[in-house]
Amino acid sequence: MATDIENVAHLTLEGNGVEEDIVDPWNVVGKSDGGVDYDKLIKKKPFYLYTGRGPSSSSMHIGHLVPFIFCKWLQDVFNVPLVIQMTDDEKTLWRDLKVEEAMKMMYENVKDIIAVGFDINKTFIFSNFEYMGKAPEFYQNVVRIQKCVTFNQVKGIFGFTDSDVIGKIAFPAIQAAPCFSTTFPCTFGNRKLPCLIPCAIDQDPYFRMTRDVAPKLGFVKPSLLHSTFFPALQGAKSKMSASDSNSTIFLTDTPKQIKNKINKYAFSGGQASVEEHRKLGGNCEVDVSYQYLTFFFEDDDKLQQIKKDYTSGALLTGELKKILIDTLSPIVQRHQERRAKITDAELKLFMTPRKLSNNVD
Ligand code: TYM
Ligand code: TRP
Repeated sequence: MATDIENVAHLTLEGNGVEEDIVDPWNVVGKSDGGVDYDKLIKKKPFYLYTGRGPSSSSMHIGHLVPFIFCKWLQDVFNVPLVIQMTDDEKTLWRDLKVEEAMKMMYENVKDIIAVGFDINKTFIFSNFEYMGKAPEFYQNVVRIQKCVTFNQVKGIFGFTDSDVIGKIAFPAIQAAPCFSTTFPCTFGNRKLPCLIPCAIDQDPYFRMTRDVAPKLGFVKPSLLHSTFFPALQGAKSKMSASDSNSTIFLTDTPKQIKNKINKYAFSGGQASVEEHRKLGGNCEVDVSYQYLTFFFEDDDKLQQIKKDYTSGALLTGELKKILIDTLSPIVQRHQERRAKITDAELKLFMTPRKLSNNVD
């Protein structure tokens, strides 16, 4: 190491003697006056994004938008392909749903996902029920994974019991397989590309299992970016869930429904009366309206001011709720407009196995 440090010092003294940026834990020397070329450090390493959705209700809720909006941002910034798994099989196994019903919900959910604004040239959305039969490589990877995990291990990870149906026990391998790029021969050929998964923490057990088996099968472990949960209207004790309509703002809700739900159900960190509120102020840590604004309010400075005013008591709960209503309604409305414009042909193309444009070739 000492020689390296000496070399760097020498080159620095020489001025323009640095041919390449040097960035390691001991040295940071940029070759140009503009400093280190960060683009060069982060770009051109091929990878793909993977996320998914279990279609258990025909309407998604605003909490579901969080990982998908994040995925779109990553896709746009890094110019990388994205694969989205629709686990209609999972929901058939876990819920009281027939295969046909789960598939119907899957198509409705796919439209909501497309409406987030994904680039059709860089995004492949697939249903397990449809794609498994089209790509033998998918099933081959599923079996490779199943061969590496014992019943004892999945029991430990997922809490399965003797009375769970066998489909549930086999399913985790199906959520794991898309972490390996060879599951998508039409898209990636037989190249082994690293995979990055944005999702909320509830999905982690699947990927802990996947990270365990990846080296055994000669694949790199998938990397994960976990988002926090979008809380239920009643408060952060539970996540927003589509199965409870009073705790949830759906992407199909009208502006009137959104307004009513927020006014009626959004848990407030405010005080019982205006007088008390002015005196003691509100608690942003538990106030659901404020929490929602931290996800969807674009202007960070203004948000900081809202927090200050609510905490001091200058801003009342009703006023805070109005800010949230005025923020969410247009987002949901614009989503509905985009969703209404999606054609069957577009949906079909998103779901067709094909090559995707990417950042390497
Ligand atoms: P599902 O349909 O339950 O959830 C879809 C995605 O949304 C996240 N999520 C939330 N994020 C923030 N706040 C919430 N209240 C909230 N509720 C759900 C989930 O973490 C997930 O990222 N088995 C999966 C489908 C799946 C998948 C994947 C998910 C298949 N492959 C790969 C992520 C990555 C499921 O039923 O997700
Ligand atoms: N993702 C599914 C759901 O919550 C199914 C599931 C069962 C699950 N056990 C799990 C997800 C354990 C994560 C961890 O609807």
